[in-house]
Amino acid sequence: MTEKKILIVYGTRFGATEGVAIKIAEIFRDNDVLADVVDLEERSDFDNFDGYDGLIIGSSIKIGQWTRHVKNFVRNMRLEIQKFDGTVGFYVCSAYAAIAEQYAKVKEEYIPDKLTEFDVSIDYYDAFGGIIDFSESSRMGWLEKKIMKLAGKQATGVPVESEYTDLRDWDQIEKFALGFLDLFKA
Ligand SMILES: Cc1cc2nc3c(=O)[nH]c(=O)nc-3n(C[C@H](O)[C@H](O)[C@H](O)COP(=O)(O)O)c2cc1C
Repeated sequence: MTEKKILIVYGTRFGATEGVAIKIAEIFRDNDVLADVVDLEERSDFDNFDGYDGLIIGSSIKIGQWTRHVKNFVRNMRLEIQKFDGTVGFYVCSAYAAIAEQYAKVKEEYIPDKLTEFDVSIDYYDAFGGIIDFSESSRMGWLEKKIMKLAGKQATGVPVESEYTDLRDWDQIEKFALGFLDLFKA
């Protein structure tokens, strides 16, 4: 039997989505499934998904938006995604996804609601928490930090008191990865 192979593409701004892509790939490899991980900022020239049994797209969320590269990828690959035989998954990393009262709402808003614009439907999706980093070494610029602090004041639950907060739930991420593999077996 040939080994299954999955393509994971992602767009990140502050690193959370990248970390999740790497973790999902590790879980796949532990389960004897090959995984290619591609940062869409570095490579976006796909003609098709030949040779892959699954595709996972991951995006950072900023002011309610995916990254430009993820948007371009979904737009450019729309027809290929529609006709792809394999399983297609999507995830986002977002601060609100880590807040229990917001989770269900943003999961829909940031994934299937946005995909309708591209006429793309997917099999499987989830929203994970993100990183809030006010430290010196942060990838967030001063304006981004300011917006984040303001958002934190307005939306209860967004932690803006600490220098660095990682809101990702690794058990939730593992469940997502294993659930994706289960779809192959179904
Ligand atoms: C300027 C700014 C705007 C943001 N806007 C949102 C937002 O609209 N919704 C949300 O859930 N999280 C928002 N966040 C939090 C990010 O989703 C979080 O930092 C996440 O880690 C981003 O993924 P990345 O680390 O892969 O870039 C925002 C963060 C910043 C700095």
